[in-house]
Amino acid sequence: METIRWGILGCGRIARKFASDLTLVEGAILSAVAARRTDDARAFAKEFPAQHVHGSYEELVSNPDVDVIYIATPHALHHEHTLLCLNHQKAVLCEKAFALNLRQAKEMVAVSRNRKVFLMEALWSKFLPQYQKLQELIADSELGEIQSILVNFGFIPQPPVPARLYDPALGGGSLLDIGIYNVFLVLSILGRPDTIEASMTASPEGVDIQCASLFKYKNGALAQLFSSLSSNLGTDADISGTKSRVRLTARFYAPSATIELYAGREDSREIIPVFKEGGSGYQYEARHVGECLRKGLIESPVMSHNDSLLIMETMDRIRSAAGIHYSADRF
Ligand SMILES: NC(=O)c1ccc[n+]([C@@H]2O[C@H](COP(=O)([O-])OP(=O)(O)OC[C@H]3O[C@@H](n4cnc5c(N)ncnc54)[C@H](OP(=O)(O)O)[C@@H]3O)[C@@H](O)[C@H]2O)c1
Repeated sequence: METIRWGILGCGRIARKFASDLTLVEGAILSAVAARRTDDARAFAKEFPAQHVHGSYEELVSNPDVDVIYIATPHALHHEHTLLCLNHQKAVLCEKAFALNLRQAKEMVAVSRNRKVFLMEALWSKFLPQYQKLQELIADSELGEIQSILVNFGFIPQPPVPARLYDPALGGGSLLDIGIYNVFLVLSILGRPDTIEASMTASPEGVDIQCASLFKYKNGALAQLFSSLSSNLGTDADISGTKSRVRLTARFYAPSATIELYAGREDSREIIPVFKEGGSGYQYEARHVGECLRKGLIESPVMSHNDSLLIMETMDRIRSAAGIHYSADRF
């Protein structure tokens, strides 16, 4: 497969950023775009030219000129849309949150494995250069044994506020939308927590407008994770070990040109530069998907199926402790 021919399913906000960054990926083209209304797909294709414009998702998955589909619909639809693509033998890059719960995520992974079709969650942060640098520092024992992680992600949504953020039917709330980045970061460093405590504040619609969690580990490590759609919390992370501390400065989940290393207390700061390309940062994951497809993989070695399942299982545990429920949990 020389050129990877991409399709985009759902022509919303993040789809526009992704399409823009796809132009930075060598050996990739945007072949087709699909929206529920043809006019929306046409408007999208005016901004981001694509050979095929579809007025339904079913048309997109039936298009032979598409190798892989980027799913950019709200979380509650990821399960349905991923199965639609996989069942038409289309590889999938599915936006976070991967699904609403572990049950849905397991089914998505099972279909990918049974049909031998590539599936990856679009956890773009994992492919960013500062995250690779952090992993290097940890692997080289620069931090010692990690003892504590503090991670925050919060903002007050500004108009036009996406309705999906507060809609329980679309998987609204802070945890699945932004708290997932906190969960991803902690799991990728400390692994599965032994116990989880969590609490949330409900919005009038019933979604978690804030969520705070505490992960505890048998070796004594603790992680505190805070997400909020009702305050402009920081978007930074402190990863502290017995030797030193790394600080991922705002915004820890997006491309950054530096990370901070503290061998001692505040006055010991060393700035570590990180190579950063142009674009918004979605090109790294898109490039990786291309590499996986060219190798004939059905799963990414970087963001594996088990990585997504662990994130979903952990978010189920947080939701259970905090009392966050979706109607999909009943099935
Ligand atoms: N990786 C990141 O940095 C990042 C950032 C933001 C969001 N996201 C994720 O991307 C996903 C989409 O977020 P977004 O902000 O792009 O949302 P959005 O602007 O509201 O777009 C969602 C798109 O989903 C489609 N859709 C299909 N059925 C729908 C329904 N019943 N209700 C609403 N939309 C429906 C619509 O596409 P058509 O009508 O065009 O078909 C709509 O344009 C979410 O899962 C979110 O977590 C990721």
